[in-house]
Amino acid sequence: MPLQQFLSVFQSAFLEGRLLKCTLSKNTSAAPADLKNIYLRPVSLKKGLFVAFNFRYATRDEVKNLPIEAAVEQLAQMMGQWFLHADLLTTERDYHLKYTKSGEAVFSSQKAAHAAAVETSHDREKHRLLDPSAPWLHTLGITGAKGEVLANTGDKWRQVNKYLEIIDSLLRANPLPRDPHIADMGSGKGYLTFALYDFLVQQGYTPRITGIELRPKLVSFCNKAAEQAGFSGLQFMSTDIADYQPDRLDMLIALHACDTATDLALAAGIRNKAKIIVAAPCCHKQIRRDMHAQNELTPVLRHGILEERQAEIVTDGIRALLLEAEGYKTSVFEFVSTEHTAKNVMITAVGSKRRDDRGRKTALEKVDALKKGFGIREHFLEKLLEQPV
Ligand SMILES: C[S@@+](CC[C@H](N)C(=O)[O-])C[C@H]1O[C@@H](n2cnc3c(N)ncnc32)[C@H](O)[C@@H]1O
Repeated sequence: MPLQQFLSVFQSAFLEGRLLKCTLSKNTSAAPADLKNIYLRPVSLKKGLFVAFNFRYATRDEVKNLPIEAAVEQLAQMMGQWFLHADLLTTERDYHLKYTKSGEAVFSSQKAAHAAAVETSHDREKHRLLDPSAPWLHTLGITGAKGEVLANTGDKWRQVNKYLEIIDSLLRANPLPRDPHIADMGSGKGYLTFALYDFLVQQGYTPRITGIELRPKLVSFCNKAAEQAGFSGLQFMSTDIADYQPDRLDMLIALHACDTATDLALAAGIRNKAKIIVAAPCCHKQIRRDMHAQNELTPVLRHGILEERQAEIVTDGIRALLLEAEGYKTSVFEFVSTEHTAKNVMITAVGSKRRDDRGRKTALEKVDALKKGFGIREHFLEKLLEQPV
């Protein structure tokens, strides 16, 4: 029986750790209204290994994690009833179960094209991180009704994908608790906040993400979009970053938060001992105003553009050093190519539990030397960290 063959391959691939993913498509009129697809994949939870079912409706997603026995039972009920096609990808072979309109089932397989591609192709990996047909992308205006990336949102799409690649590699090296609490400070219209939530759920996390944003209209738009998408752990608050006091913070995100809003966010991340901090600073006005270089660069900094770039380097360089003084391991690198946006530097920081007094002293000495050389009285982040809690 083709269905029995399919179920048995699914179960053994799952139990032997060979299951990559399975997609149910070609819905019938018997499927629940608006249910377009179901995506299945293995997910490791505290209670063990489960099968995550991502139910993709026209405007929202719903995720259910089931033990393998219940997952196989569900599949047996759905195939041929709700869906006519199932594509099952394993590390060695790809399997297909297809029902004709007359109800006849065919089961076939071939060598695993996808498995090789996942491991070797950068592009394939990129696409795996964000599914363009996710309904929230349409609500936020990045894709059209058919899940196509719109002509004028290509840069945003690339940025979101690059962001998820960075998050993915950070989390592989520094896993968070399965129920991480995350704040995205200066979340704006929420593209990157929604992307992070969707990605974490696909990875088997049960995240609680709070977007912090000054502008109430954006907050109300994002809360409505999160509800519509079925993202129950995602909420937005209309408040100043300076006033937000989380009860727990595992990861702090601050992407393009204006000028010293980045410092407010970094200080909140440090104070709340966030394990991972990801910041893409923007408009470095504070240091630019305060900078009166008294070093060999003075003659070249009379050119406005060079002074502006130098101010950015000094601002972000000192931010990285202050994070190091607080025990974080930092990296500063190009986020997306300057071809797509001028705001393209990213700082990532991963906290370490080990206290390192010598490292702290060295980092702070470097901050002092930089301040002296560039005639800076204070760096806003340093001032925030000096304030009593
Ligand atoms: C340039 S947008 C970036 C949005 C989003 N993070 C992104 O990268 O697409 C910066 C957002 O930060 C918000 N913002 C600036 N200062 C803030 C503060 N002190 N508290 C909360 N939100 C702030 C602004 O209203 C704006 O929507």
